[in-house]
Amino acid sequence: MHGNLKQNAQLLNAYLKELSDLSHAKVVVCVPYPYLAQAQQLLQNTSIAWGAQNMGKFESGAYTGEVSADMLLDFGAQYVILGHSERSTAYCESDENIADKFMLAKQHGLTPVLCVGETLIEREAGVMEMVVGQQLDAIIKKCGVEVFEHAIVSYEPIWAIGTGLAASPAQAETMHQFIRQKLTQPSAQAEGALKILYGGSVNPQNAVQLFSVNGIDGGLVGKCSLNAQDFVKICQAAEQVCETLVE
Ligand code: PGA
Repeated sequence: MHGNLKQNAQLLNAYLKELSDLSHAKVVVCVPYPYLAQAQQLLQNTSIAWGAQNMGKFESGAYTGEVSADMLLDFGAQYVILGHSERSTAYCESDENIADKFMLAKQHGLTPVLCVGETLIEREAGVMEMVVGQQLDAIIKKCGVEVFEHAIVSYEPIWAIGTGLAASPAQAETMHQFIRQKLTQPSAQAEGALKILYGGSVNPQNAVQLFSVNGIDGGLVGKCSLNAQDFVKICQAAEQVCETLVE
């Protein structure tokens, strides 16, 4: 719940100025609903894609306050963040709700960016893989594991979001491996198309190190996306890491 028309225009124009020539890294900006039209206006026909931060779980109807997949599509959105921990904790969103939304997003051709992650208590108790596994199982149960082909999962340890304390490369690598194995086991084909991001205090100082971790395909950036310089540096870090992979 950041931004306004003026600030957004400044940020998006700065991203466009600095990030239009990336040839490997893909930049997507997920904005609050009222600014989808602004994102569409400023970003269409550019290399930066846009999406939303949530979506309703029904097609359409009397669901006051909700926003449907079709509405997002009306504004050219291609991506939708689902299950961000700030939604599951502050708005009591259940894994089943998230699974409904995931299914609907896929049916409408939107790419879901599914957030999963554990609390600090869960990590300290050593049950982080069980917790993340259950979050993924809710989707698998409803939609089948194939649904993760061409989807994006973002591993977001809740203790790392907005705290300045990112997961260590080793912690992230272990969890990314766990997620990838769980989601691609039955079909080797899914391997290439599934992208797994890391989110939680990504900043210009730690971006190269995190993006270089085996199995991390990119980042979901919160706070640092509100500062054009920081966000540009993070995207350039992604580009730099992609370049070394291509070489
Ligand atoms: P942060 O947020 O980068 O501010 O930690 C990440 C997120 O909201 O997922």
